[in-house]
Amino acid sequence: MPSPTAITDVRALEIIDNRGQPTIRAWVHTADGSSGRADVPCGSSTGSYEAFDLRDGDGRYNGRGVRKAITNIHEVLRPALIGVDVVDRHNLDRLMVDLDGTPDKSRLGGNALLAVSMAAAQAAASALHLPLYGHLNPHGSVLPVPQACLINGGIHAGNDLDPQEFCVMPVGASSFAEAARAVCEIFQVLKGILVSRIGKHAANFGEDGGFAPPLMACREAMDLLYEAVEESGYANDVVYGLDIAANGLYDPYSDAYRFDGRVRSPQQMVEAILGLVREYPSIVSVEDPLQQDDFAGCKAVVDALPGVLVVGDDLTATNMHRLQMAIDNGAINSLLCKVNQAGTLTEAMDAARYAQQHDCPVVMSPRSGETEDDILSDISVALNAGVFKIGGPHGSDRGKSFNRFLEIEAELGSSSRYAGRNYAQS
Ligand code: PGA
Ligand code: ZN
Repeated sequence: MPSPTAITDVRALEIIDNRGQPTIRAWVHTADGSSGRADVPCGSSTGSYEAFDLRDGDGRYNGRGVRKAITNIHEVLRPALIGVDVVDRHNLDRLMVDLDGTPDKSRLGGNALLAVSMAAAQAAASALHLPLYGHLNPHGSVLPVPQACLINGGIHAGNDLDPQEFCVMPVGASSFAEAARAVCEIFQVLKGILVSRIGKHAANFGEDGGFAPPLMACREAMDLLYEAVEESGYANDVVYGLDIAANGLYDPYSDAYRFDGRVRSPQQMVEAILGLVREYPSIVSVEDPLQQDDFAGCKAVVDALPGVLVVGDDLTATNMHRLQMAIDNGAINSLLCKVNQAGTLTEAMDAARYAQQHDCPVVMSPRSGETEDDILSDISVALNAGVFKIGGPHGSDRGKSFNRFLEIEAELGSSSRYAGRNYAQS
């Protein structure tokens, strides 16, 4: 007799994400009739150390089709996984990693592996009659501070702001629900300020659901955010986070950054970041302040800004080897966790837990390319992550995360804990 939670089928379909780019939706079915479904997110500001995103490279969708990855799911992963128990996630994910056999998952595609890995986890939760967060960790109870991107720049926006994300973090809220309310109220006030001050085109959106106003200087964006927070009455409850996404600002040939109106050497870039944080002392989080290989520059930022999260994204790529290097070199004090950078749920969660064990709190993050799948909120709660980079409250590709956290908070009731001002302790 096969176990009731043994896999009986694995299926995948090419669907589209919020940008009209193809991605993978997968289903995993088990012997007891349960099933799980998951979609793969995709970034646009990607680093070099991420798991390989396998694309067709043919005439369809400008080469972005995922039919090869889906064929790999049906012809390689499916036959190997039939009969494997979905409850033993480590074994299932290890099997897939071994079948791929490459360090970056370039044979079968990190996107193919992740689709099956997450759908299998959902199938296991369904078979066990548990919410996914409860299956992944019976002790998951932390609702994260939403780090909400209200102003977009970088390659996520058609403006001239260099940092990719200017975010508010309502740490003083009493619950996730109150934090969501604060974000939405500030968002509406900011919209009013942008429209009255700059014009209605200033309220157009960027890729993370924040506004993309025609600004150039970081200080202009920070001043507008401060003003919106003040006017909404949340000045005592909100701190700020930036994603510099410096990889996209860096020119390797001249070893220089284009940042905030000037070309800067790596040393000048460090000074510019420190200057900005010192001018706006409520900035408590700075992601990727330097390009993806500048461990020494990141360490200089960590050392100069005690109490500020210096978050590794492209630098660490949710990759255990890169994470260990970054921690050993003192280049980060916080890890951005993106499941598709790792390529399986197990590896993403292992990296996050390794970071937490090394006093390196975790910031969970969707990608700019998302679907309606809200799985990341469950993973965040399972990891007890203190911060979740949620985007702006615009569009269901961002709203889904707010709404799933609201559901989980209600479901957990008095056993839930909003991270609040303790965001750096989980
Ligand atoms: P991406 O951006 O999903 O486009 O990579 C998010 C980030 O850089 O944090
Ligand atoms: Zn980033």
